[in-house]
Amino acid sequence: MLKIQGLKKNFGKLEVLKGIDLEIKSGEIAVIVGPSGGGKTTLLRCVNGLEFCDAGSMEIDNKFLCENGVYKGKEEFNEARREIGLVFQNFNLFPHMSVLENLIEAPKRVLKQSEENAKKNAKEILGFLGLSDKINNYPYELSGGQKQRVAIGRALALNPKLMCFDEPTSALDPGLTGEVATLIRSLAKDGMSMLIITHDMSFAEKVADKIYSMKDGILEEGNIF
Ligand SMILES: Nc1ncnc2c1ncn2[C@@H]1O[C@H](COP(=O)(O)OP(=O)(O)OP(=O)(O)O)[C@@H](O)[C@H]1O
Ligand SMILES: [Mg+2]
Repeated sequence: MLKIQGLKKNFGKLEVLKGIDLEIKSGEIAVIVGPSGGGKTTLLRCVNGLEFCDAGSMEIDNKFLCENGVYKGKEEFNEARREIGLVFQNFNLFPHMSVLENLIEAPKRVLKQSEENAKKNAKEILGFLGLSDKINNYPYELSGGQKQRVAIGRALALNPKLMCFDEPTSALDPGLTGEVATLIRSLAKDGMSMLIITHDMSFAEKVADKIYSMKDGILEEGNIF
């Protein structure tokens, strides 16, 4: 599903990614652990097209974002980018929008879905996430775990082939991390691939099919910490 080869990224003189190779199959859950500053978030940002790499290839569902360091044209890039969802560490919900509005914004704007279709789809997702009674609430009225689920729902509304999570449990109390693990597992069972960054080892072991370690811009299979 996702194939990364020889990915490099520098910030000025700082080599942050030093040639990353990573393959994630359909329905597979890959978890990356490793010390602060190792380049994990930068890798996620490159995969999501929020940061441009300097060398290497990234391919999602046979669509290239970038091939041998050369980025595809806008249309092809956006098409590949659309297959990837990202859930930010701090959720980044739109504060002035209700839960339902948070979920329908991108499908309407990016996928050109009708208001009616977007709402129908969003309500299904919110039902699946156990948030049917919160659709008209605003983010500030939700608990941390509920906000987290809305953020996941917002990414799901675009029906991505790959979901990326940066520290999905860092803002949750320990009791809720098991819930997030169960949710991620059930999504993967339906064929969605997952790329997850975490510092939480017990969460990593609960959720991962494969664990990778990232240190000083180098990714290795297995948990070396
Ligand atoms: N926009 C930027 N400009 C310059 N340097 C950056 C930028 N973003 C990240 N860096 C540097 O790149 C390195 C890797 O950062 P990154 O955020 O990818 O680490 P991380 O593995 O996610 O760490 P953490 O576990 O603390 O979240 C760090 O040294 C950081 O200072
Ligand atoms: Mg990070």
